[in-house]
Amino acid sequence: MNERITQLPKLRDESLLSDASIDRIKNHIFELFSTSDNTKFAEKEIEELVSSIIEDFLHDTSVSTNLELNTIAQQFTNSAIPTVSSDVGSYIDNLADNVIIHSIRTSSPRYIGHMTSALPYFFRPLSRLMTAINQNLVKMETSKTLGIYERHALAMIHKLIYNFSNDFYQINTQNNESTLGIIATGGTLANITALWCARNYSLGQKEAFTGIEKEGLPVALNFYGYKGAVIIGSKLMHYSFEKATGLLGIGERSLIKLPVDCNSRIDLLALQRTISECRALNLHIIAIVGIAGATDRGAIDPLLDMAEIAKEANVHFHVDAAWGGPVLFSEKHRHKLAGIEMADSVTIDGHKQLYLPMGIGMLLLRNPQMAKVIEKNATYTVRKDSIDLGKRSLEGSRPGMVLFLQAALNIIGHKGYEFLIDEGIRKTQYMAICLRHKPEFELLVEPEINILLYRYIPKLWRQKAATGTLTKSDNQLINQFNERLQNLQSQAGHTFVSRTTLEIAGMPIVALRAVIANPLTTEGDIDSVLEDQIKTAAKIAVLS
Ligand SMILES: Cc1ncc(COP(=O)(O)O)c(C=O)c1O
Repeated sequence: MNERITQLPKLRDESLLSDASIDRIKNHIFELFSTSDNTKFAEKEIEELVSSIIEDFLHDTSVSTNLELNTIAQQFTNSAIPTVSSDVGSYIDNLADNVIIHSIRTSSPRYIGHMTSALPYFFRPLSRLMTAINQNLVKMETSKTLGIYERHALAMIHKLIYNFSNDFYQINTQNNESTLGIIATGGTLANITALWCARNYSLGQKEAFTGIEKEGLPVALNFYGYKGAVIIGSKLMHYSFEKATGLLGIGERSLIKLPVDCNSRIDLLALQRTISECRALNLHIIAIVGIAGATDRGAIDPLLDMAEIAKEANVHFHVDAAWGGPVLFSEKHRHKLAGIEMADSVTIDGHKQLYLPMGIGMLLLRNPQMAKVIEKNATYTVRKDSIDLGKRSLEGSRPGMVLFLQAALNIIGHKGYEFLIDEGIRKTQYMAICLRHKPEFELLVEPEINILLYRYIPKLWRQKAATGTLTKSDNQLINQFNERLQNLQSQAGHTFVSRTTLEIAGMPIVALRAVIANPLTTEGDIDSVLEDQIKTAAKIAVLS
């Protein structure tokens, strides 16, 4: 044992530290943790410094600096932990100059390429409050009111989807036996948790068999007489489902990805056929997944038809509404999600269209008893009879993100969210009209909500593109052109759209991808993004 310890490398020679240095370190550390007047004064100064950094960052409308990632990376290769402690002010100055300045301004109105955008101002003071009270939502002993507040917020989102009776919410919202939903750090964890629940529920305890969670997949399949287990959805499913199949032990190959129709919605006949084939092959279907807002193009599956098919087949129906869920706030557009109320589980991301800071997603469960199949207990916490949230959640310790969710539901409110959703969709339609009228561009997919796919067509190919006579090699060259265009635009840092690859008539087509969710983005900003692309395209080789 001792021998092993002596093999550890000596980090530094402590005898080199003088008594004065040790005292300085002690004082420094105590001051960092203290609530004394001295510390309060220092904190105020730092807050002012941070406020000015925030001000500079948010008021710059460009997307980023044009410093290359590799150059930034070279500054961060030294692996030694600093021995000499830095004072807070110098550290933050350094942070501002070397890190914050080169971060992406996701709040920029001309940054319209990803699902992350501007935030309402009140989250900034609230995040200070959240950090100051430092609650841990894993258990009531470290969160108390926030745990109850979280259950309340989840009940509101549950009602938005399922709209059960007031009695239902009276009985279940704060009931230890019920779980209306689970907050997680994002959509990925919410999707994984949904499928964990679906797997355990469908291969659960029966007669002498204690259930898959205890016995594992091979024993469960053997007990129920299945040859394997699968999850079925369209080929547009988010890659978090691949993670889920890996973690649940069924393997990525058991994620059956079905084709989509011309509107990017799952092929329902293929779904029905696949269910029959799985039955014939004795494969257990853990869940059918519907998408409400596919990541790359925002498409929404025919949820009502899927729900009926899943019900008929007696299979768990999960809807991944990480992006599209908040469309439910809109009177005008909520019909697009019809059928979501029949889902056994629904994922909604808070940090997408609920406009919450990064780090919150949620899973809502139709059956308040379902999450019992993933329950874990310990002697020191999450005890069986406790109301601790951590006993039915994939994550352990969790921050009080519910403060953000509750604040937004109260301050933005239902009508505020309706406005945000309607505006995003309206501006997307505006962009689609611009693209149809500009000869430089081709709209690739009619937007269903607020994600839009298009490409730049260099002059040489415009005639062919207009008559639908582009060849495979034409498309390959246009793909290269669009890749280069998106890279150059992104590198210059004035405006931003992202990029994806579609399959059209069996051909891979590189698409530029706009996500219009930032409330600060105006029609003028959309015009500027397109003008920037036209100017950038003019600089690319001779092809344009
Ligand atoms: C449809 C969909 N599902 C799930 C996720 C994963 O969410 P997160 O990145 O919050 O884990 C995303 C993220 O873009 C998404 O678009």
